[in-house]
Amino acid sequence: MDRIRIRGGNQLNGTIPVSGAKNAALPLMIASLLTDDTLTLENVPHLADVELLIRILGNHGVDYSVNGRRENQRKGHSRTIHFSARSIVDTTAPYELVSKMRASFWVIGPLLARMGEARVSLPGGCAIGTRPVDLFIDGLRALGAEIEIDGGYVVARAKNGLSGGRYRFPKVSVGATHVLMMAATLAKHETVLENAAREPEIVNLAECLNAMGAKISGFGTSTIRITGVTSLSGARHRIIPDRIETGTYALAAAMTGGDVFLEGARADLLEAALKTIEQTGTEITRTNAGIRVKRNGAGIAAVDMETEPFPGFPTDLQAQFMALMTMAQGQSRITETIFENRFMHVQELARLGARISLSGQTAIVDGVERLRGAPVMATDLRASVSLVIAGLAAEGETLVNRVYHLDRGFERLEEKLSGCGAQIERISG
Ligand code: EPZ
Repeated sequence: MDRIRIRGGNQLNGTIPVSGAKNAALPLMIASLLTDDTLTLENVPHLADVELLIRILGNHGVDYSVNGRRENQRKGHSRTIHFSARSIVDTTAPYELVSKMRASFWVIGPLLARMGEARVSLPGGCAIGTRPVDLFIDGLRALGAEIEIDGGYVVARAKNGLSGGRYRFPKVSVGATHVLMMAATLAKHETVLENAAREPEIVNLAECLNAMGAKISGFGTSTIRITGVTSLSGARHRIIPDRIETGTYALAAAMTGGDVFLEGARADLLEAALKTIEQTGTEITRTNAGIRVKRNGAGIAAVDMETEPFPGFPTDLQAQFMALMTMAQGQSRITETIFENRFMHVQELARLGARISLSGQTAIVDGVERLRGAPVMATDLRASVSLVIAGLAAEGETLVNRVYHLDRGFERLEEKLSGCGAQIERISG
């Protein structure tokens, strides 16, 4: 198994290009199931999760082709991919595949809408919490589906097509909003989704669906209206820059000091996080071409933070922000409100010398003057990258195990960081 070796202590200086967003790419790829035409997605990041979803979609009958290699499409770089679901050959998503990636559960929406049936394995628990699917089930029922659970599978039927309907999410869910929005595009009547997620990835998906002929309005607000159409066509659509990758490298620059330009980043996708990072004493400059992050000399101020659905501070940056706070001057309180078990990085950060105690859903971080390198390991993607950030600032060597988590969500991580002066390398085997 690959590991990442970091020699900490170097400042980051230089330019990091921001890749296409993983969490926008995944639902957009799944949307290709809604049409027998070709959906072309630009700026698809080259990540393990994307490759896995390509295989999963292939199981349902989706063919794909990658544009010829051009200068900026070298191996490991974002690409343009054409997806074509001319005919759906299988409406079952088996446990072996869904258990590998939770987002593959989302095929339930398009399969049900287009084929009138879907049989999708329950995803099961994962490292950051139980993550149930009750909102998907209740929501699809509100749109007219008949649903039963059979042998670990959610079996959804709408023999004469979905009718559409009104559904108010009792809790904001990104995945359930994606799914209900996709399912409603082909319903007979209007659908109204209340207390819907407002994440930029929802907006990116809605814009793509509209380009395919859907009639969706209100996306980006908490009430989304969808008027069903009889069929959707193909389209060409660009994936937004990854706001979590952007925030991660911004936090890495804040942690090590230095001056980094995040090329292609869009500040409007992560304003809450940028404002919180600014409060730590980091200078952030927003430009049309990207975001510049600079911290020279001064110490890191301790700042309290609470995760929230968009437009609040994203849970996917909580672990990375905690890494920064481990070296802050004073105490900070970090509260996780989205997932009930997303503090797996706390113990590992402690191995580097961090002082963190947990009180329910709040981590109390007492900043230390220095961290010291150690072997560490994490159980999910964002926790893993928080250890990389801490390792970049720690004295000596940090070895991050289970690198496959990083490969799921960070394109060319070592290359991007070493390009800015970090001593970081992958050790194979
Ligand atoms: C998406 O997951 C992201 N994944 C997650 O990123 C992200 O952390 C999360 O949204 C929150 O922003 C992708 O986009 C692929 P939710 P999702 O449904 O959609 C509860 C990463 O590292 N809930 O918004 O699965 C749920 O348990 C990943 O890239 C129910 O109770 O998250 C959680 O507490 C990790 N019932 C809360 O809602 C349901 O039926 C929000 O989850 C569905 C969700």
